[in-house]
Amino acid sequence: MNTKQRAISKDTFGLSGQIALLTGASSGIGRACALALGCAGVKVVINHLPEASNEAAKVCQEIEDVGGDAFAYAADVSNEAQVAAMFAEMVARFGTLHILVNNAGIESSAKFQEMTLSQWQKVIDVNLTGMFLCSREAIREFLRRGAQPDVSQASGKIICMSSVHQEIPWAFEANYAASKGGVDLLMRSLAQEFAPQKIRVNAVAPGAIRTPINRSAWRTEEAMKNLLDLIPYKRIGEPDDIAQAVLWLASDLSDYMNGATMFVDGAMSAYPAFRGAG
Ligand code: BGC
Repeated sequence: MNTKQRAISKDTFGLSGQIALLTGASSGIGRACALALGCAGVKVVINHLPEASNEAAKVCQEIEDVGGDAFAYAADVSNEAQVAAMFAEMVARFGTLHILVNNAGIESSAKFQEMTLSQWQKVIDVNLTGMFLCSREAIREFLRRGAQPDVSQASGKIICMSSVHQEIPWAFEANYAASKGGVDLLMRSLAQEFAPQKIRVNAVAPGAIRTPINRSAWRTEEAMKNLLDLIPYKRIGEPDDIAQAVLWLASDLSDYMNGATMFVDGAMSAYPAFRGAG
């Protein structure tokens, strides 16, 4: 737990007592979001892959250390039965759900002419079908439970982790960019469908954030220099930069925000190569 996370008081966001499920929360952006929500008094379910059990247990411990409540659950978000079982366990232990953070995501880069069907399929399965399955379970629970105006103005909140690559084409990552383009229209279609039920669906589009997924882009001095050429704000993002946006989107402070994507990217999506050119 770092000082930024500890500074999040239980009162700032009015989230205390709400229940959240975060996918892919054993490391990187998902972990930071889980810690931030935990500090804000939210009870959290830490979804992770079986091989990340130790890391997930540590995230739960860190939340418990600040007086929060969390449990870890291993499930593949692209597996319908595992997702259904995870949501059933959450309802059994915490009673309901208020916030879903669809965060799990993977990359599998290849020259397009060499990309295998399984590379294509795996990325679409985790990044897009996983969001479909988890969002469907969340929506079912929000509709079943209905409004709880004393808890939140919205009857439920879904936050999808997209990417600047829902907008910026990405050579050698066509599967990833296609999945994130899909996330954008999945998110907006859900917002349109469920706004009348007071369910809010939004997305965060991170730029380059210092996490294991893009280690090769920041690990060496040379890689970092090349990366910073793509970031007008001239620093790499940290997982907490994204967690702060997620906290706000989960809270009633953003109650009128629905069907929108927040780009949190140091202006990476402002096409920096066009500065003084074109
Ligand atoms: C990817 C990172 C990449 C960033 C900016 C993210 O969506 O996961 O690997 O560094 O976009 O290109």
